[in-house]
Amino acid sequence: MKNIIFVDDDMDILTGLKRMFRPMRHEWKMSFASSGKEALELMDGEPMDVIVSDMRMPEMNGAQLLMAVKEKWPQTVRIILSGHSDQELILRSVEIAHRYLAKPCDGDVMREAVERGCSLRNMLHNPELESIVSGLESLPSLPHLYTEIIDVLKSPDPSIKKIGEIVEQDIGMTTKILQLVNSAFFGLPRHVASPTQAITLLGIDVVKSLVFAIQVFSQFDAKLLHELHFEKVWSHSVNVGNLARMLAMEAHADSVCADQAYLAGIIHDVGKLILAINLRDQYAGAIHNAVEKNVPLFMVERDALGTTHAEVGAYLLGLWGMPDAIVEAVAYHHAPLEARVKYFVPLTAVHVGNLYEHYNHNIPEEIPAEAGWDEPYLQSLDDLDSAKWLADCRAKIKEVSDDEA
Ligand SMILES: [Fe+2]
Ligand SMILES: [Fe+2]
Repeated sequence: MKNIIFVDDDMDILTGLKRMFRPMRHEWKMSFASSGKEALELMDGEPMDVIVSDMRMPEMNGAQLLMAVKEKWPQTVRIILSGHSDQELILRSVEIAHRYLAKPCDGDVMREAVERGCSLRNMLHNPELESIVSGLESLPSLPHLYTEIIDVLKSPDPSIKKIGEIVEQDIGMTTKILQLVNSAFFGLPRHVASPTQAITLLGIDVVKSLVFAIQVFSQFDAKLLHELHFEKVWSHSVNVGNLARMLAMEAHADSVCADQAYLAGIIHDVGKLILAINLRDQYAGAIHNAVEKNVPLFMVERDALGTTHAEVGAYLLGLWGMPDAIVEAVAYHHAPLEARVKYFVPLTAVHVGNLYEHYNHNIPEEIPAEAGWDEPYLQSLDDLDSAKWLADCRAKIKEVSDDEA
């Protein structure tokens, strides 16, 4: 049984929620509070898996309540349910809530958000990491990209194209921007093809307040970057994004799948950043062991931490409300058969693109034993002739590199 608490000062809304989720009463233990104070008192008695709170409430608003919850119960999944009226407050909550749903909220959307929050709790098997990831507000960027985006945004007439190009090269910025566009608050279409399109939809003014007032971006510690030889994680990620899109197009996947493959490719190793900044020495040791013993890094991570960068990344993306196909691609990029999907999805492209990129660039810590993709997985897909697809892709890659040469 999962513990869910709903908080709203409007009794009609609480009654509506009660009625809407009555059919869930055998799976969810629901509590209802009409103020932040009451919610915190209830949580003192019984910690919650998920809190869904209104934003505008007298005395303690939703952002203040979720901040208190974050401090005391970092693993509780925090969802804001609010009207569109107060953009300033909404922007302030960007760093505190995992997800934002807009009022009036469709029952299925809310159920999905709550269910996903609950099921993610079973993903990591490492309470320390769960707390770390639930508490993350931003993901650090490559220092030179961070400086570049600040410079562009401070310029008199910032170019959206230029901002998009910078964001697309950075794992942390792409992840954060995707979280924002996928939040119902901004009222944007759920499918966004690229960071540039996301920036266009958000608008320069919103991006400026996010960056300068709310500080959604930050810099990766330059010393750590150097110690771990981590710069290559960024170039690898951009390459995997581009490869994954091409692989999806060669498989004649639709444009939504190709766009998601591209975005998932850019952020597929986001878990590595999370582990590096939070478990510094332990993670440096894991990378060292992987190189020393010539074993894939994710296997060393599993032994040392009980989880892998793929699962840590997917956990964060799930909490942040990313589309399922992207979360799935990140979660299973090393072990696609575990996803149990029988047709071509962004995961397929990211799995192959990732191995192809590692193999080509000879990144020692992640070359799998045979430097090959999971053949049984590719053959298990009903809608793919994998031999033909891979041959087409190799030809395409050759064509592109011949053009560049
Ligand atoms: Fe990986
Ligand atoms: Fe990778």
